[in-house]
Amino acid sequence: MSKAIEIENFSYGYPDGTMALSDIKLSIEHGQKVVLIGPNGAGKSTLLLTMAGFVKGTGKVFIDGLEVNRKNLKNIRTCLGSCLENPDDQLFMPTLFDDVAFGPLNMGLGVEQVKKRVADALQTVGLAGMADKAPHHLSAGQKRAAAIATILSMTPKIITLDEPDGSLDPRNRNNLIKLLGCLTQTLIIATCNMNFAAAIADRAVLMDKGQIIADGDAKEIMWDFKLMNGHGLEVPTARD
Ligand SMILES: Nc1ncnc2c1ncn2[C@@H]1O[C@H](COP(=O)(O)OP(=O)(O)O)[C@@H](O)[C@H]1O
Ligand SMILES: [Mg+2]
Repeated sequence: MSKAIEIENFSYGYPDGTMALSDIKLSIEHGQKVVLIGPNGAGKSTLLLTMAGFVKGTGKVFIDGLEVNRKNLKNIRTCLGSCLENPDDQLFMPTLFDDVAFGPLNMGLGVEQVKKRVADALQTVGLAGMADKAPHHLSAGQKRAAAIATILSMTPKIITLDEPDGSLDPRNRNNLIKLLGCLTQTLIIATCNMNFAAAIADRAVLMDKGQIIADGDAKEIMWDFKLMNGHGLEVPTARD
């Protein structure tokens, strides 16, 4: 079976010359929950954009066996859903229903199927009954959940999330941890919060300066004080 993600010798520099990713090699199996950890500027967001086919560099990227290129982009976007760093970038319709229905409608699904997709997605993220609400009236935690629902309604096999814990209070962060724990999709989550990362992931990929520094068991990597400290990160404060 194809891997969920397969990246071979991928490098990318932004137009201003900043090398954001250097010679990335990464392979992720279906069903894994992987955290991308690293200090600000490490290249986490750029790597997630690469997986979604938003940046084009050198090397090869495969999503569920499909090479990321112009021809495959539509199929890749059906297979992999990206939750952006700022939920406001994902919520732009007058009602929550419209936002969550947007993807399935674009996929050409019928009205009844779309309604079911929306209801299922809102139920999963704990926003059942809020379909008529204006997205800009939601709280930070609800917006995060709503952005995830816009992805879930497209039933992707793989979901990437860029710092989804940002601006959440502890209760909402715990709700998000529970939600992500219940999802069966392959999850790739960028974060700088090690307690959050430790609560979710089986596997951690530590990045710094556009490179992968360490890749392995989440707990082994995150509790390695020297490694974490050397790359501007903290070890988690709670061990479960
Ligand atoms: N649009 C851009 N133009 C130029 N440089 C960028 C752009 N976006 C990010 N960078 C640079 O690329 C590097 C990686 O950034 P990013 O992937 O956002 O890191 P992270 O998500 O780990 O904080 C950083 O040096 C950052 O300054
Ligand atoms: Mg980032």
